[in-house]
Amino acid sequence: MRITEHPIIKFKRGKKVTIYFEGKPIEAYEGESVAAALIAAGIYVFRYSPRHKRARGLFCAIGKCSSCLMEIDGKPNQMACMVRVRDGMRVRRQKGKGVLDGD
Ligand code: FES
Repeated sequence: MRITEHPIIKFKRGKKVTIYFEGKPIEAYEGESVAAALIAAGIYVFRYSPRHKRARGLFCAIGKCSSCLMEIDGKPNQMACMVRVRDGMRVRRQKGKGVLDGD
């Protein structure tokens, strides 16, 4: 799912890193968002809505809609489309409203 060539835009990929989605290693590149890495790995459901438990994923991709809220490194309500990957990052689907451990 990653674009490797484009007729107009040139890509300079960052260093390869590994993030962990619910414990599963996912290949990612420095500079790309968590959402981009997950979609490239075939993962489209980022959270489930609080009331009706509906699957949500990437929608606006510019940090305006909150459709992509995930738990990243233990912190809930992080916008996967805005957070850049970091080696060793731990990402989980968010179910319902995000709460910190101990809340
Ligand atoms: S997809 Fe809309 S805020 Fe991330």
